[in-house]
Amino acid sequence: MLGGLVDKIFPSKLPFRGFDHIISGIPYYATEVERRALRDALEQFNSRKKYLIFEPLAAAMGMGLNIEEPDGKFIVDIGGGITEIVVISLSGIVSFNSIRTAGDTFDEEIQDHFRRNYNLAVGLKTAEQIKIRIGAVREDIENPPAPLTIKGKDLVTGIPVTKKIDHKEIFCVIDKSVTRIENTIVQTLETCPPELASDIYYNGIHVTGGNALLRGLKERFEARIQVPVHIDYNAFFSVSKGIARILQKPENYNHVLMA
Ligand SMILES: Nc1ncnc2c1ncn2[C@@H]1O[C@H](COP(=O)(O)OP(=O)(O)OP(=O)(O)O)[C@@H](O)[C@H]1O
Ligand SMILES: [Mg+2]
Repeated sequence: MLGGLVDKIFPSKLPFRGFDHIISGIPYYATEVERRALRDALEQFNSRKKYLIFEPLAAAMGMGLNIEEPDGKFIVDIGGGITEIVVISLSGIVSFNSIRTAGDTFDEEIQDHFRRNYNLAVGLKTAEQIKIRIGAVREDIENPPAPLTIKGKDLVTGIPVTKKIDHKEIFCVIDKSVTRIENTIVQTLETCPPELASDIYYNGIHVTGGNALLRGLKERFEARIQVPVHIDYNAFFSVSKGIARILQKPENYNHVLMA
């Protein structure tokens, strides 16, 4: 898959394809076996040097944070498969939590909701599109999106049907999962060293990953956690932006790169 992606980005069929440095992000929770598998997969690119970096560190850098400072930085990455929560200080991860509740969970819950309540079969892609177009984590949000008419198949008759839904309905569907993420954030704050906790109450928490873009997330997290919440509106690119920054001068970042 990696080979295919690189071919897409560099379509010219060079007889020798080589890179000077390759830096790949890896989730913090990845096991040593998974890390080794990724390193092996990177072998194919003939790079002079190859490194791994924990994605939350790269994401923090991509959001423009100075991870080398001693004060605590709190990062929440709500990706597709997993939500990773870390506290960073002096370029290291000092507290960590992760849960397998993230974007895919929301999509599956939306799909399930239509099946159970309306006998309506919608594909996972449609469920994801519903989330992106009208998904919200609060009932009251600024500029609510217009209701959406979705198409699906009636499970009993097999006939294509349409149904109009609004953001409040999606809020009810994903509410419990968002609460689970909130609880994990609170738990991480509670276990974080006290001197860093005070920094976090001042600096706030930084939320990235595609699902950070869900409507009302900032207001909801602030109401529950009582700290300032900063949403990264470039949520898809925080990790790659961080890595791009490192690639400009990799020799300055040996302390965060894993050979
Ligand atoms: N506008 C949006 N609002 C809410 N969610 C969105 C939006 N756009 C994309 N997403 C979701 O963001 C997720 C993808 O984000 P991201 O690229 O951060 O995940 P990932 O890094 O691939 O996953 P992981 O970190 O778990 O490996 C998907 O669940 C997608 O449905
Ligand atoms: Mg991710």
